[in-house]
Amino acid sequence: MTTPGASPEANLITLRDPGSAVAEAYRTLRTNILFSSLDRPLHTLLVTSTAPDEGKSTTLANLAVTMAQAEQRVLVVDCDLRRPSLHTLFGLPNERGLTSAILEQAEGPLPVQGSGVPGLSVLTSGPLPPRPADLLGSRRMGALIERMRSEADIVLFDTPPAVAVTDAAVLAPRVDGVLLVLQAGHTRRDRAREARQLLEKVKANIVGVVLNGAKLERGYSY
Ligand SMILES: Nc1ncnc2c1ncn2[C@@H]1O[C@H](COP(=O)(O)OP(=O)(O)O)[C@@H](O)[C@H]1O
Ligand SMILES: [Mg+2]
Repeated sequence: MTTPGASPEANLITLRDPGSAVAEAYRTLRTNILFSSLDRPLHTLLVTSTAPDEGKSTTLANLAVTMAQAEQRVLVVDCDLRRPSLHTLFGLPNERGLTSAILEQAEGPLPVQGSGVPGLSVLTSGPLPPRPADLLGSRRMGALIERMRSEADIVLFDTPPAVAVTDAAVLAPRVDGVLLVLQAGHTRRDRAREARQLLEKVKANIVGVVLNGAKLERGYSY
């Protein structure tokens, strides 16, 4: 479980127990993503799901750690402007973040924070806006995505569930790929299909599906 104010080591299994089967599963996921399309490498990846609490943020943060461990410069961006959690997962303040960068007109540096993991930076959500989809769909956000792209090897975007609100669908066409997280035994089949259809309608490039919480012979994994 995520503990507010705790260190990333306490919250992220890839740091706490790198030798575990779960951490190994994240490394396999990393490899599959980094090598999924060698002719068109993925520089920006969005993570979403059908409903809250399916493990989007947990998956994104652990995936980011394993990518940084493979010597990628990784930037994680909290675009869940409804229930942000990357600041909690990484134990960081959230007074400034993505929304500050979108709303402040000055062209200062991005308010990115170090994560404690070499090569891994975090752009927390910042103060929550009244209409998240408007900010995420804005031209300023488009320009920011281009800046993020130039400042990291891979940028991972955390988002709210794709079925409930449009935020993920607004961002999906602006990134190279979308990863859909489903929770074993929880995600409803019709919801998963609905999420896929919504994303395909906006021409999103769904690169894969993570089945979170599936019971394997050896404990918890996907
Ligand atoms: N495979 C898993 N096993 C056990 N707990 C998990 C797993 N994946 C996520 N969780 C827990 O479930 C809660 C919700 O996860 P989170 O990643 O915040 O979901 P989302 O971002 O989809 O809302 C967190 O407390 C997290 O620690
Ligand atoms: Mg989340």
